[in-house]
Amino acid sequence: MSTVPSLNSNADRGDAARSSRTLAGPRALPFLGNAPEFVRGGVPHRQLERWADEHGPTYRLRLGPRNVVVTADPAHVDLILRRRPHDFRRARSTSSIVDELVRPGAFTAEGDHWRRLRKVATQSLSPSYLRQYFDTVTMVTGRLLRRWEAFAASGERIDVLDQTTRYTLDVAVGLAMGHDLNSLENSGDGLHTRLPALLAAFSQRLMTPIPYWRLVKLPRDRRLDATVREVEALVRGRYEGAKARVEAGEQPSNFLEALVRPLDDVPEITESEVLGNVFTMLLAGSDTTSSAAGWALHFLAEHPEIHEKVRAEADEVLGERELPADPAAMGRLQYAEAVVNEALRLRPPIPFLGFEPTRNLSITGSDGRELSLAADEEVFLLLSYGGRRDAERFPAPGVFSPERWLEGKPADGKLPFVPFGAGPRFCPGRNLALIETSMVTSVLARTFDFTPDRSAGAVVEGLSFAMIPKNLYLRVSPR
Ligand code: HEM
Repeated sequence: MSTVPSLNSNADRGDAARSSRTLAGPRALPFLGNAPEFVRGGVPHRQLERWADEHGPTYRLRLGPRNVVVTADPAHVDLILRRRPHDFRRARSTSSIVDELVRPGAFTAEGDHWRRLRKVATQSLSPSYLRQYFDTVTMVTGRLLRRWEAFAASGERIDVLDQTTRYTLDVAVGLAMGHDLNSLENSGDGLHTRLPALLAAFSQRLMTPIPYWRLVKLPRDRRLDATVREVEALVRGRYEGAKARVEAGEQPSNFLEALVRPLDDVPEITESEVLGNVFTMLLAGSDTTSSAAGWALHFLAEHPEIHEKVRAEADEVLGERELPADPAAMGRLQYAEAVVNEALRLRPPIPFLGFEPTRNLSITGSDGRELSLAADEEVFLLLSYGGRRDAERFPAPGVFSPERWLEGKPADGKLPFVPFGAGPRFCPGRNLALIETSMVTSVLARTFDFTPDRSAGAVVEGLSFAMIPKNLYLRVSPR
């Protein structure tokens, strides 16, 4: 990026910045604005990208009553992600939907409240817990392998996203609550059936331009409230158990237990904050990671020559072992990680995020021009755009080529590749997510041949809580 982004207070400058109202944008319908086109086909991020192609990287649109500035300009993306929590906050249209259902956690909190919750969340996901979460991930990966052996034996087609969702949920619940959900092998647990329902309801509300449920609750909204209360009761029960164990002198061995007795520099948090953070781990950590793993497997099925390379690397690194022995072995599965990075570039689970300035201010774009934003004005950052379109940084950007990550590997959080965000609110689950996705990719590719099953139609993108692959089915056979 050539321009150093800068941010100015309008009050300081008195000022010639262009107003967001003067930005070009798609023609809006009366009352609904651009909402119908935005939600049509269930891929709003693709529509946002098309509008950026048409109107330039920074434009405006209207979703019902909401005016939104959309930007894919790397200078704006960089500046807004880094100037948090002081100058920008998460858009209330997103955080209010989460917060009215579950208690605030690190993802939705702001200011000092966010600082406290962030410290706790990063503590439990920090490299000092690496060994512990590595063991959980290998145990769950072993189970996934057994499931796929059964699929190979029966010849049944595999619903890949269902499998990767069970996988990431089992890992997230294991780490967050010390509970072996084991949704890969059974389906009787209350959490296993209720959490996916919660995720689906969140995404449906995020895509609804007018929050009707604040005025009138339909039966599905009442069912959702009941589900939240049930999940909360389950989490609270486990928290009581964690408290009892830690108070009886046991060493904390999972996120909940760590919350009972936080590290010295982490402040004590309330029970409500504990519940909020556990929900955040489950919500932020499962759909995103299952989508990334699903897309990585999809690309291997489409590119047998790349599949072969992942397999050769796994043979060399794992030797006689079925699963990586330790985190160091994971570090040597570089080609598998390159496959995951390339999947994240072409199919980012979080293609856009909403923010608001906390005060009137102006921001400088890559072209050096100032754009003034009013306090609380909603801004969508189109995180997917640079990775998919920037031909300078990613030559032939539409081509799936893991090799590009092996030479001159760009760091995450460096534009234009920001699948985990950037700045102070950068995703704290990144390392865990990369371990999960690289391990699944490597171990399954090593063990099985993949045949795409397109009986449900082509594999396409859909936006749920995260951007997910739809119609992704495989048949597998022993290598
Ligand atoms: C491939 C998988 C994942 C992707 C693509 C992803 C992506 C993201 C993105 C884009 C953000 C917003 C960052 C920002 O505002 O700058 C975020 C935040 C967050 N993620 Fe992830 N994530 C993934 C996995 C995980 C996992 C496994 C966990 C935990 C178990 C997790 C926990 C969180 C939390 C707690 C936040 C909020 C951070 C804050 O606001 O301070 N994520 N993630």
